[in-house]
Amino acid sequence: MEKKYIRNFVIIAHIDHGKSTLADRFLELTKTVNPKKMHSQYLDLMDLEREKGITIKMQPVTMNHSFEGNDYLLNLIDTPGHVDFSYEVSRSLAAVEGAVLLVDAVKGIQAQTVANLELAQKQGLVIIPVINKIDLPEARIGEVEKEMSDLLFINPEDILKISAKDGTNIEKVLETIIKKIPSPKDVSKEDDFRALIFDSKYDSFKGVIVYVRVFDGHIKEGDNIYLIKGEVESQVKEVGLFKPELVKSEFLESGEIGYIATGIKESRKVRVGDTVLLSRSKLQASKLALHGYKESSPMVFLSVYPEDSNDFELLKNALEKLVLTDASLISKPELKAGLGRGYQCGFLGLLHAEIIIERLKREFDLNLILSTPSVLFKLIDKTNRSYFVYSPSDWPENPSGIKETLEQWAKLEILTPLEYMGNVSELLKKIKSNYIKTDYIGEEKCRLVYETPLREIVAKNFYDKVKSVTKGFASVNYEVLDWRQVNLVKLDVLILERREDSLSKIVPESEVQKEGRKTVEKLKSVLPPQLFSVPLQAVVYGKIIARETIRAKRKDVTAPLYGGDFSRKRKLLQKQKKGKKKLKEKGKLAIPPKAFLEIFKSE
Ligand code: GTP
Repeated sequence: MEKKYIRNFVIIAHIDHGKSTLADRFLELTKTVNPKKMHSQYLDLMDLEREKGITIKMQPVTMNHSFEGNDYLLNLIDTPGHVDFSYEVSRSLAAVEGAVLLVDAVKGIQAQTVANLELAQKQGLVIIPVINKIDLPEARIGEVEKEMSDLLFINPEDILKISAKDGTNIEKVLETIIKKIPSPKDVSKEDDFRALIFDSKYDSFKGVIVYVRVFDGHIKEGDNIYLIKGEVESQVKEVGLFKPELVKSEFLESGEIGYIATGIKESRKVRVGDTVLLSRSKLQASKLALHGYKESSPMVFLSVYPEDSNDFELLKNALEKLVLTDASLISKPELKAGLGRGYQCGFLGLLHAEIIIERLKREFDLNLILSTPSVLFKLIDKTNRSYFVYSPSDWPENPSGIKETLEQWAKLEILTPLEYMGNVSELLKKIKSNYIKTDYIGEEKCRLVYETPLREIVAKNFYDKVKSVTKGFASVNYEVLDWRQVNLVKLDVLILERREDSLSKIVPESEVQKEGRKTVEKLKSVLPPQLFSVPLQAVVYGKIIARETIRAKRKDVTAPLYGGDFSRKRKLLQKQKKGKKKLKEKGKLAIPPKAFLEIFKSE
């Protein structure tokens, strides 16, 4: 197709503002999907997504649409709205020329939308503002128009008002996309093929299938390709478009979005953000590399162990597969006494972690034991060498060599209706934070800006707390700022006087007392009682700071005895006591996975 008839775009929207519903209407209107096969949230391919009602993994789609007598090719990349997944948004932005900014008429602009909008503007994308859900009786169209025009510096008349649910004005959105979003341009004059990988998946027959935006030239089956960062060559098995199922085509051309079945079997050589060239351009690779997008960096770390140690290989393969489709997931093998072999994984946030763990369980049938989540810390030793602490097991046994301990701070923005402003500031007073400023948006909303340790927002269900004090109306966004000093210590937990490594934590010294107490109390409530008493201790550098005891479960060994044979009774009880002591000495209490989960959840 001639380039002037191509439009590449994304939809930027906060979670639940109706992106998938709007995409469904596009699919129907353009007859991309057979109406008989159409079901709602068509582009949300995973079960998990439909269940949770959120988009986790984007699925691109190519649609045909006629307008004023011409046929257009519209490429839509669906993007997820949750803050944990903003890296997905940034990768799709690099592949398109425009964005539909979709805002819910009741909820209005949200913090994450503002952040994504700023990203899109930086990329020079054309923004099409749209208010959705105008059919709802509680829609605040005028007010939301005001919020959007305050932020975008646009006339309220330029904002389209639609109902994705009822199908009102959907055609108008497609028209505006065609009229306002520019057609793709060549990035350079080179005629040779160049494409940016924005996603990939593995196919056991065709090797790694990369999802690409073609910037220059064209490609077809049988061409020899070279991946710049992966330093790997291969022969193309197939190329095609997203309909949204993969449909083979003869060519992929400059300006188009489509897939290349690369035939490459080693998935780790294929990374999102890499550039695909024809092999004959290999020598000029460094000159031809396309700009990727902001690399994502993991923020939350936790260890994952198979419940059955024989499943280690299964876990290994599963993680390799997931890493391929999710560039932001990192994992490295580790060994822990009592748990065996497992992986330490890094995630973008807690929701991201939850989804990956759920996928491991469901798609690979794995039973897993998880450690407490933690964030990244930095240590500087007396020789001025600095190193990162990804998990408590990285903490030095001898702390006397440490000169400084640091943690990351973030700029935190909370957009809230004015009526909940007080609740939000109360919540922020409870965690370590510095107030920066308040901006007013429209008439009913404000943006509160704070600085806070990343640890406070990432690993402690902070979002849920904000949601609960604002009845779900506030939204949160953060951006990492810098490393700042904090006094950190390692909190260990002893069960039966043995250290349980998977329960260790790195905590600020000022909170260690509270944290230690909380941990042993929680353990006491979730661990099943044994035939002997089980001491639980929270320890910092050998010093006990909190303790609890799980009392022994008593088995009445004297029950079969009638009447008053007192010496026999005493004998039996003594034997029981001895037995318990023996059990206890031998005892390494296996923590049931359920209890681990409870501890994990209580964070
Ligand atoms: P994520 O995929 O999680 O980012 O959400 P989304 O933005 O794709 O939202 P989705 O399309 O799943 O819609 C969220 C909810 O809003 C669903 O219950 C939809 O039925 C509803 N909804 C979407 N558009 C409209 C609309 O125009 N009017 C009304 N009344 N409801 C809508």
